[in-house]
Amino acid sequence: MLEKYERAGEIVKKVKEEVVKLVKPGVKLLEVAEFVENRIVELGGKPAFPCNISINSDAAHFTPKRNDERVFKEGDIVKIDIGAHIDGYIADSAITIDLGDHEDLVKCAERALEKAIEVVHAGVNTAEIGEVIEKTIREFGFRPIVNLTGHGLDRYVAHAPPTIYNVKVDKGVELKEGMVIAIEPFATDGAGKVVERGECEIFSLIAVKKLRLKQEREFVRYIAENYRTLPFARRWVNVSDVVLARLVKQGVLRAYPVLTEVNNGLVSQFEHTLIVEEDGCKVIT
Ligand code: CO
Repeated sequence: MLEKYERAGEIVKKVKEEVVKLVKPGVKLLEVAEFVENRIVELGGKPAFPCNISINSDAAHFTPKRNDERVFKEGDIVKIDIGAHIDGYIADSAITIDLGDHEDLVKCAERALEKAIEVVHAGVNTAEIGEVIEKTIREFGFRPIVNLTGHGLDRYVAHAPPTIYNVKVDKGVELKEGMVIAIEPFATDGAGKVVERGECEIFSLIAVKKLRLKQEREFVRYIAENYRTLPFARRWVNVSDVVLARLVKQGVLRAYPVLTEVNNGLVSQFEHTLIVEEDGCKVIT
């Protein structure tokens, strides 16, 4: 199991190194997302979720749509979040690429992640991790995003317990040896909170329910076979907006609308997946 996590981690690490060179003003977002997703497959894995490309005030859950023409621009602060899995065992990691002049904001999230990793070992409480992240980000003069968190990873589950807050919380949980977790500090010069904006290109299967319409049943079967409970991109599948909306409404699919900073603050993010060890941890991405 841990060996599969580590193989997924190796793939994410390699793709991350390669994508840094690709993100430049004028390059299409879609080109980068497809590069990431195809490269994961070439390296022997499968995408654990669509490549997230969140620019400026967007913090998470943006992925390009089919035939998306949008390009990176001079000045953008770009977060790329990559997930790969081997047999359901997921590695999840994110980096910020600065196409502008946001050096401190980028450094702040990176430093917060480093500091958080330093305190991880079996027996540490997640409250302590949140406190370290918040303190580091505030020292830089920025704010942590309170409603985006790190998380555990489980087989075919990209966001499993425990929740790892990016701020000090009253009561956390104790990490145990062998747990696989992702820590992902988000920093902003805005208010420190994300809200949904209209766009939504990512979905996942919640539960297979009895469905009345054949079209719905066939689509759900396809998703269950190909992605199980992992998130998929709208552009990966052939389905009408009507069917998608109906499945969301019936509680069969979960929708992941783009999350953007409430005051339109700029956002930076870094993320690593790690295995908790008795006396520390092993970063696999
Ligand atoms: Co994550």
